[in-house]
Amino acid sequence: MDARSLYSTLALDGPPLFFPDPPAQITFNFDQGIAAQESFPIEELKELAGRVLDRDGARALEYISFGHDDATGDIIYLPSYVELVLGNTGLREELARWLGRRQGVAGLGPDNFIVTSGSVQAIALATMAFVNPGEGVLAESASFPYATRFLQMRGADLRTVDIDDQGLVIESLERRLEEFRRDGIRPKLLYLIPTFQLPTGAVLPEDRRRRLLEIAEEWDLVVLEDSIYADLRYDGEPVPSLLSLDTSGRVIQSHAFSKVMAPALRLGWMAGRPDMIEALAAVRQDLGVSQWLCRLMAAYLAEDRMDAHLESANAIYRRKRDIAVAGVLEHCGEWVDFTVPQGGFYLWLRMRDGVDWEKAQHEAVMGGVFCRPGERFTDSADSGRYLRLAFSHAPEHELRRGIEVLGAAITNAAKG
Ligand SMILES: Cc1ncc(COP(=O)(O)O)c(C=O)c1O
Repeated sequence: MDARSLYSTLALDGPPLFFPDPPAQITFNFDQGIAAQESFPIEELKELAGRVLDRDGARALEYISFGHDDATGDIIYLPSYVELVLGNTGLREELARWLGRRQGVAGLGPDNFIVTSGSVQAIALATMAFVNPGEGVLAESASFPYATRFLQMRGADLRTVDIDDQGLVIESLERRLEEFRRDGIRPKLLYLIPTFQLPTGAVLPEDRRRRLLEIAEEWDLVVLEDSIYADLRYDGEPVPSLLSLDTSGRVIQSHAFSKVMAPALRLGWMAGRPDMIEALAAVRQDLGVSQWLCRLMAAYLAEDRMDAHLESANAIYRRKRDIAVAGVLEHCGEWVDFTVPQGGFYLWLRMRDGVDWEKAQHEAVMGGVFCRPGERFTDSADSGRYLRLAFSHAPEHELRRGIEVLGAAITNAAKG
């Protein structure tokens, strides 16, 4: 049987999900942007997981929250079926409190949140909820491949907006919108990562954010703000989120515990106006995420542990970023250009002319170093000259040694 002959066109036609493994054993993995294992609050999570089970008993292991009469031990059936689609109410309440305070957004409550399996699910749901096949969507010209994949699989007309070292270029956004108008296509949604952009690390300045929101208003766009790296700041002052600047309720913001705590929690969310969030609930095709983990993270937030955790995690990443930057300057500095990011997990390196990048890449891989090639993020003409070095996960000694090996490979390819 040829299984592929049974595939739906959707399953057959999507852009590739997986890429071939590197051709050699990887010792220095700078490929995936993953939270550092040494930052995982294992003892706290162990203690809280047990405490939540002691406190809530079987209720923590249900699909949805039931009330409980402590005197009789009876279950009280509350109208909590909404949790099947929106997720645990307690976590949504705590997210509203934490995010509202951190981003300065007043008036948030549980109805402003849907809890999802990581933030990728939130992005996928938004795609289905707001975009019809054939409608126009916009993303930065280098972006998160899963998000652009979802948009393409939805059958949207995806066009890209130029970026510079401060993120999305407003004039380019206006040009693309005009092009849609000229082509008779309704532009519907703009997906962007305004803070510690993936892969460049750029932060969109406040004046561009304000202008972007005016344009979104003018063109009646949904703005999907991917906020996954925004709390991972190592220097500089925070810039207001799009969600906090939005006055018309057209910004929806995806976020998750994946990068700021641990990916295996698989807990993400979308925040936005309740009637915007309802659209995501309407297209959801599962029965929610783990009540137990939601209750655990609700307790974590309720006990105000998150900000302290972020501070210690950010200290780890600041050190790693500094080691990576120093290593690249010392070993590859002559051959690459990059901007030191103020946050996030990556260095976005551009090879200067004169480096045979394919040769450098091959030699680096044979030396056990793997970075993610630029063409995974962008199809711009010079994508082949870029690589993304993720510094977040590797231990410090591997970062030092691996970048030395990478430097040797680039130098050889430049001289040869
Ligand atoms: C820009 C961006 N958005 C979203 C995600 C999704 O993360 P998760 O689904 O683990 O929350 C990632 C993960 O790499 C990412 O880089």
